Amino acid sequence: MGYKIAVAGKGGTGKTTLTGLLIDYLIRKNMGSILAVDADANSNLNEVLGTEIEETIGEIKEDVNRKSLSGDSFPGGMRKADYLKYKLNTSITEGDGYDLIVMGRSQGPGCYCYVNGILKAEVDLLSGNYDYIVVDNEAGMEHLSRKLIDPIDALLLISDCSRRGIQAVGRIKRLALELNLKVGQIFLIVNRAPEGKLNSGIKEEIKKQELNLIGVVPMDQMVYDYDSDGKALVDLPEDSSCRKAINEILSKIEFKSN
Ligand SMILES: Nc1ncnc2c1ncn2[C@@H]1O[C@H](COP(=O)(O)OP(=O)(O)O)[C@@H](O)[C@H]1O
Ligand SMILES: [Mg+2]
Repeated sequence: MGYKIAVAGKGGTGKTTLTGLLIDYLIRKNMGSILAVDADANSNLNEVLGTEIEETIGEIKEDVNRKSLSGDSFPGGMRKADYLKYKLNTSITEGDGYDLIVMGRSQGPGCYCYVNGILKAEVDLLSGNYDYIVVDNEAGMEHLSRKLIDPIDALLLISDCSRRGIQAVGRIKRLALELNLKVGQIFLIVNRAPEGKLNSGIKEEIKKQELNLIGVVPMDQMVYDYDSDGKALVDLPEDSSCRKAINEILSKIEFKSN
C-alpha cells in the first residue's frame, strides 16, 4: 500500500500551497509514483501544480444523474454503474510526475455524501497502485471523519500565525483521536509567519494544544506574486523562502509506513 499523507487545517492557511510544494518535493526526490487527491469542493490544487483538470467527480456524478433521470441510455448501452466506473477512470489527470483526482463541486440533486462516497471508493481502489497518496483536504473535517484515507501515515496540520488557527488544528487532532483514526504521525506546520518567526503567544498556544511543531514557513512575497499572476507555485525558484522552508521541513519526515 502507498504511503498516505493528509493535509488539514483552517481555510486560507496554506494547505493547497504546501500540498503542491510537497508533491513537487516528492517528485524532485524521485520518491515514486504519486496520486494527488484534491478533496476540496473549491478545488484549486491543479492551479498550484500548474495543470488543467479533466472532469471532477462532482461533474461526473451530475452527468450520470442527469442521464439516469432523463431516461437517456448510457453510451455503448453501458449500465449506470459501469458507466460511472468508466468515467471515473478517464477523470484522472496525468500531471508531470503525478496523477490527480479532483472532487469538485456538485450542484445537482443529492448531497455531498454521495460524491464523498464515490471519491472514497475511487481512492480505495487506486491507492494500491501508487507509492504516495497525498490528500489536500477542505477546511472542514468531513473527510477525516469519513475516513477518506485510512490509515493515514502522516497528518500534516497547517496553521497560520493566529491563536485561532492553532486552536483549529488542535480540534482536528482531537477529532482524529476521538474517531480512533489510525494516524502514524501528526505534525504541525505554521505557515506565513512574519520573518519566519513565532511570537510567544503562538508558542504558548501550540504547547497548550499539545501539537508537535515540525517547522515554520515564512510569509513569502514571491508566493503572493505568483498567486496573483496565476503562475504555478511549483515553478517558484529554489531560493524562494517558502520553498526552502518546506523542503527543510519535509526532509525531517521519514516517509515510511510502519
Ligand atoms: N508562505 C506563504 N507566503 C505568502 N503567501 C502564502 C503563503 N502560503 C500561502 N499563501 C497564500 O495564502 C492564500 C491561501 O493559501 P491556500 O494554499 O489556498 O490555503 P488553503 O488551501 O488552506 O485554503 C493563497 O493566496 C496563497 O498564495
Ligand atoms: Mg485549499
